[in-house]
Amino acid sequence: MRLSHRLIGSLVLGVGLVSLIFAWNDIRGRERQLRADMAGRATAEVRSLDQTLVAAGEAGRRERLPATVEKFRARSQAVGVILYDAALQPAATTPALPEAVLARAHALALNIPIDGPTADIVHDGDRDLFVDAEPVTDLPGLTVISIVHDATSIRRQTADAWRQQAVRLLIQLGVVVAVAMVLVRWSFIRPIARTTAWLRELRTYGSGAVAPLGVGEIFKPLASEVTHLVRSLESARAAAQEEARLREAGDSVWTAERLRAHVRERIGTSPVFVVSNREPYMHVRHGGTPKVVVPASGLVTALEPVLRACAGTWVAHGSGDADRDVVDTHSRLRVPPEQPEYMLRRVWLSKEEEEGYYDGFANEGLWPLCHIAHTRPIFRTSDYSCYREANQKFADAVLDEARDTTRPLVLVQDYHFALLPRLIKSARPDARVAIFWHIPWPNPEAFGICPWQSELLDGLLGADLVGFHTQAHCNNFLDTVERGLESQTDWEHFTARRHNRLTHVRPFPISVAARHAGTRAATTSDEARETVFRQIGGSCEWIGVGVDRVDYTKGLIERFRGLERFFEKWSHYLRRFTFVQIGAPSRTGIGRYRELLHDVQNEAARINARFGTAAWKPIVLVTRHHGYDEIEPFYRAADVCAVTSLHDGMNLVAKEYVMAREEGDGVLVLSQFTGAARELNDALIVNPYDTEQLADAFRRAIEMPVTERRARMERMRRAVSEHNVYRWAASLIGGLADLRVDAPPAPARPRLATTRRPTVDDGPLAESDFVA
Ligand code: G6P
Repeated sequence: MRLSHRLIGSLVLGVGLVSLIFAWNDIRGRERQLRADMAGRATAEVRSLDQTLVAAGEAGRRERLPATVEKFRARSQAVGVILYDAALQPAATTPALPEAVLARAHALALNIPIDGPTADIVHDGDRDLFVDAEPVTDLPGLTVISIVHDATSIRRQTADAWRQQAVRLLIQLGVVVAVAMVLVRWSFIRPIARTTAWLRELRTYGSGAVAPLGVGEIFKPLASEVTHLVRSLESARAAAQEEARLREAGDSVWTAERLRAHVRERIGTSPVFVVSNREPYMHVRHGGTPKVVVPASGLVTALEPVLRACAGTWVAHGSGDADRDVVDTHSRLRVPPEQPEYMLRRVWLSKEEEEGYYDGFANEGLWPLCHIAHTRPIFRTSDYSCYREANQKFADAVLDEARDTTRPLVLVQDYHFALLPRLIKSARPDARVAIFWHIPWPNPEAFGICPWQSELLDGLLGADLVGFHTQAHCNNFLDTVERGLESQTDWEHFTARRHNRLTHVRPFPISVAARHAGTRAATTSDEARETVFRQIGGSCEWIGVGVDRVDYTKGLIERFRGLERFFEKWSHYLRRFTFVQIGAPSRTGIGRYRELLHDVQNEAARINARFGTAAWKPIVLVTRHHGYDEIEPFYRAADVCAVTSLHDGMNLVAKEYVMAREEGDGVLVLSQFTGAARELNDALIVNPYDTEQLADAFRRAIEMPVTERRARMERMRRAVSEHNVYRWAASLIGGLADLRVDAPPAPARPRLATTRRPTVDDGPLAESDFVA
């Protein structure tokens, strides 16, 4: 049966039933009322007869009673009258009363209640006769008077009432059916038809080509779920096709599915635990409600697809002001918010802890220490103390999350957690722990200025595997360990042995997730250009782009000087080339970063004032956070992308730009001081300190013949596709899973033994530094 029939049928049944019950109740009431009226009339007539008999004094003269009652009957509306004597035998009866009436009247007289009348209806042919019996006390020799009326009108009126109700019911049902049909058609059948047509288009043309279901549509919420589902199916299909293509081509490209299978094969269903300071999703208060923000971070860009592929738990600092509003009682929530695939466990830090650990030791100490960018590291004992405490907090959170997992696999991320590997490993010797250092590792002399170098090195050597982006960083690290810590280093196998535990040191060049066929960007590069022109409020022949956190390692001032020189040397590019710099303000709790933001803005303003016109600016600087969806049109529109870091572990912007260039064109200008420069040989490699060279590179990028541009881009795209983040994760996780880890029984959870500020004389942490 069709849905509309079922709906209307149910409505008709429901409305009909309710109306019937009410009608029945109503008619019964009316019938009762008519009988009561008739009973009232009978009582009045009995009283009247009673008074007549009393007044006439006839009661004693029994032989005259029949004539008296007959006279009375003829005057009244009664059909008959019966008087009963003290023995309840008829004393007088009007003629022509049917037998059934006489019998019923006698029965009523015999059972009459002491204090009132009683009545009943007797059917006589097609007549209904109402028989009423009433006790009398003031007539000598008589006890009951029974009066009979014709009650056929009650039946007639009741039947009329049923007829009226039936007509009303039919009209009601007709209206209900009509309204229901209109409602069903407008509210269900049409929206279902529209949604079905939309689904058909979605299935035929894919999620990228079909406009979303109209606003206000009843199935809108369903549509967004279906769109997610379709996108997942599309990417699964694309991945499967890619896999098939790769198998066919004997290719070695890694996909999310391949990584998932690889991880499952290596570690079974055991979850992966990732620890980083920066969280992948931050909740910030926006007009009273929490809004999700994906922070600007190369680490997040790289790890997010890995966690999506492998599930597991990501432990990170809950730094958003609305982060606490959306977690459960264990500070957990499932992410990504729109399609949860893994668990995020947030760790809470006080403002003081955050200032000391994150702003202070990590970003004013280790960050400038590891980057050769001419900003002096600042080492405060109080900051280091916070760093130790924060490492302990994160270790506690990881141990808590992993308590039910045997041989957990823990991937610690970055310079915020140099002490974490030792803390975890001491509590869970069965754990496999890797730390990946996302920033450069300087030479031993440079690192040696850190007052707590030994303790940091010892913490790092708690890991089974220490990873860097490049072999040069591995060399520097092993060299630093060899010179700074009591240990045995093995340069042949790249290991360090300390306290009879072995740590492997390996390069794992990080990357981005290559976009698959089937998940192509929704826009062409021409459409992207239009978007960019709209946003910058003007147009030009060539667009350049830079996407960076505003950080002194990124060489932003140097980039702007290179651009200035470019316009100076080749003034015919004025008003024809615009460089858009997206600069996400970063670490603004630190004075040096605030100053830099100011300097970068001033420098752009100075150059714009020098060359700009009312309608054109050489540099469009946008200093706000952009999500990847906002950045992508800039990548797709830009003829040239500039990455001019003074020192950078890898730099994923370079790789993101390459992967966004699906149409195969575009030139990358890349600093020789980035890890990426080792892989992307087809970029125009520059020394960002060399302003002249930088200016020349911009010119060369713009003037490069299209065949050369395409050939270079194609090689770079192939390199990034083959060395994407899934391969990175597969080799890191695979490398860690393959290591032989001797696992003695776990001791009680360790804590750093001292709260005393450590000094340079403390030396490295020994087992005795941990207490149960
Ligand atoms: C670098 C670090 C990351 C960090 C990112 C953003 O890429 O290696 O660990 O997340 O910068 O910095 P932030 O301080 O904002 O996390």
